[in-house]
Amino acid sequence: MKEFIQFEKKPKLYQTSTKKFWDDPYISKGMLKAHLNPEVDAATRKEKFVEESVQWIRKQIPPATYPTLLDLGCGPGIYAELLSRNGYQVTGFDLSKRSIDYAKASAKEKKLDILYVEGNYVSDDFGRDYDLITMIYCDFGVLSNENRKILLKKVYQGLKSGGCFLFDVFTLEKYRGQEEYKEWSIEAQGFWREEASLILKSFYRYEAENTFLEQYIIINENETVCYNIWEHVFTLEEIKQDLKEAGFNKIEVYGDVTGKPYIDNGQTICLIAKK
Ligand SMILES: C[S@@+](CC[C@H](N)C(=O)[O-])C[C@H]1O[C@@H](n2cnc3c(N)ncnc32)[C@H](O)[C@@H]1O
Repeated sequence: MKEFIQFEKKPKLYQTSTKKFWDDPYISKGMLKAHLNPEVDAATRKEKFVEESVQWIRKQIPPATYPTLLDLGCGPGIYAELLSRNGYQVTGFDLSKRSIDYAKASAKEKKLDILYVEGNYVSDDFGRDYDLITMIYCDFGVLSNENRKILLKKVYQGLKSGGCFLFDVFTLEKYRGQEEYKEWSIEAQGFWREEASLILKSFYRYEAENTFLEQYIIINENETVCYNIWEHVFTLEEIKQDLKEAGFNKIEVYGDVTGKPYIDNGQTICLIAKK
């Protein structure tokens, strides 16, 4: 029971969780439910936003010119299905077995020709020769400095010449004014565990690195587990520089994935980087 003592101090930057998060058999059930709720910005953004964003993508990067599309972190296929209905040949790639299984069954039922692959986009091969690669809902910033570099390189290699990478990131506005805190709750049966658990939540700032941590320590009769959910936020200069270092030379900038104009104090930036 005294295991929790090891979490007394502020973690080192990018210290890993003690257990898998996205692919946990119990957590992934709640996660899938969150993805499929069209009315909240949870694991997927609200339905209206998703629809607007697919219409914008279709106009901006049309399937007639960019037919093959890889959606990284596709979840249960909410974007993938809409993109497929709008004329793209879609491959969906995700770490979560539960999401991929759901996405496959849903595509089969709706008679949509989508290829779904279960894998880790940092460490596994996701193929080459795509016209368009998407990574939506700011998943890029969740990766460590090292993994972001690896991923950008892989995305660049995965595109045809002239192909595009479309993704979004959070800006410094997201956590502006949010002070560090610690709080606790007791859940009889909740998002984290089926059994009664004590949840210790901490929020930490890593100011110099523009990086933030939401840490959840779950304590119950069986285990003490720590989930570290990291988030790096970006200035426009930083993300443009990262893209240039990966080899991208033409970069378009928007405020979000529905094509709103970029503004200095917006919470998100959407980028279309061309190989
Ligand atoms: C916030 S959700 C966004 C899902 C989707 N892009 C959307 O907007 O509906 C993040 C997704 O990325 C997946 N994911 C997280 N890390 C991953 C990794 N290293 N490789 C592949 N998929 C990953 C998760 O399983 C989850 O489905």
